[in-house]
Amino acid sequence: MTPIELSLTVNGERRALTVPPQRLLLEMLQRDLHLTGTKEGCGVGVCGACTVLMDGRPVSACLVLAAHADGHEVTTIEGLGRDGQRHPVQAAFLEWSAFQCGYCTPGMILAATALLQEHPAPSEEEIREYMSGNICRCTGYMDIIRAIQSCTGGAKR
Ligand code: FES
Ligand code: FES
Repeated sequence: MTPIELSLTVNGERRALTVPPQRLLLEMLQRDLHLTGTKEGCGVGVCGACTVLMDGRPVSACLVLAAHADGHEVTTIEGLGRDGQRHPVQAAFLEWSAFQCGYCTPGMILAATALLQEHPAPSEEEIREYMSGNICRCTGYMDIIRAIQSCTGGAKR
């Protein structure tokens, strides 16, 4: 199949690359751009481990063709912090130890970031609902929820 040319913004940087037409966004990030922070769990769109932001909205990178990201802005976990500083959601996950193995954590943090952009003061129910597509097999979820609530001043140590 004829390769396709893509031009997109990844973590604030313009990127141009040529990929096979069937290349998934997840593969493009990991293999072509060497951004290995985005994880593959299920590979079929149900675990949320591969969550990245496309134009600020969370998407499962294992379900999106790289071609669909052409012309768009993609943010991965590597691009969330600024000027060497952790993003507040990253800092909150650290503060609350909201992870164990960490495999789900990049996707969790990006989904939580999108949630807080859409709903700056979500209720616990809204957090649970929004984050329901992100599965963690290690933690009990409460620290994840508390970490997200702490970003709104809603949970304190
Ligand atoms: S790896 Fe993409 S949703 Fe599970
Ligand atoms: S911390 Fe291990 S899967 Fe979530």
